[in-house]
Amino acid sequence: MNDQSTHDHEKKASAISAVTLVRDGMIVGIGTGSTAAYAISELGRLVSGGLDIMGIPTSYQSEMLAIEHNIPITTLLEHPEIDITLDGADQIDQNLVAIKGGGAAHTREKVVASAASRVVLMVDSRKIASRLNHAVPIEVLPYSRTLVERQVRALGGMPNLRMAARKVGPVITDNGNFIIDADFGVIDDPERLNREINAVVGAVEHGIFLNVDEVHVGTADGARVLKRTNP
Ligand code: 5RP
Repeated sequence: MNDQSTHDHEKKASAISAVTLVRDGMIVGIGTGSTAAYAISELGRLVSGGLDIMGIPTSYQSEMLAIEHNIPITTLLEHPEIDITLDGADQIDQNLVAIKGGGAAHTREKVVASAASRVVLMVDSRKIASRLNHAVPIEVLPYSRTLVERQVRALGGMPNLRMAARKVGPVITDNGNFIIDADFGVIDDPERLNREINAVVGAVEHGIFLNVDEVHVGTADGARVLKRTNP
């Protein structure tokens, strides 16, 4: 297998492993991205076999996929208590602190995770790092872009406005905002950086996730499960 198919194989394996945690009657947060797409497909397979769940999507992508796979969907307004959320990540350290937002969906993903009793991430093995050094996506009100960039620089970060691939100009999130990818190099203290970015005026939400309960890491023949030791 080449590198890409190994990563895809691991993503699928992590998703299939995480979906085994879903039970009848659950309200399930449905994450965004290519790994979450594997989980949605597997949930759809189980739903067609009788699994009785309702999903809360975290993006237009996951909503469209959930509909395509005939997964009943609901809203956070109707179900503010979620049993489990299944999502991908861009990087995760040994303490299960994650950086998310590669798909620009981290605001809704974080809202859903905050309402979930169990936050489960699914990743391929290259996403696990001894220290976090991935740029932190920050969703910002377009109006406040320059102000946020100045605050990111004051925190020691290098802000980069995320540009769209098949549209001119910046990425526009599902919430109508911009994304600034803030590069802080190696992040020595993610909890402190989380607090600092929380205080940035004009930022809607950022991609550091501290409340991860477990991570399913895809392997050649299944998945290994990392659990938070200090829940
Ligand atoms: C979207 C996310 C994704 O979960 C994250 O970018 C991982 O994506 P993929 O599974 O495609 O590697 O945070 O905002």
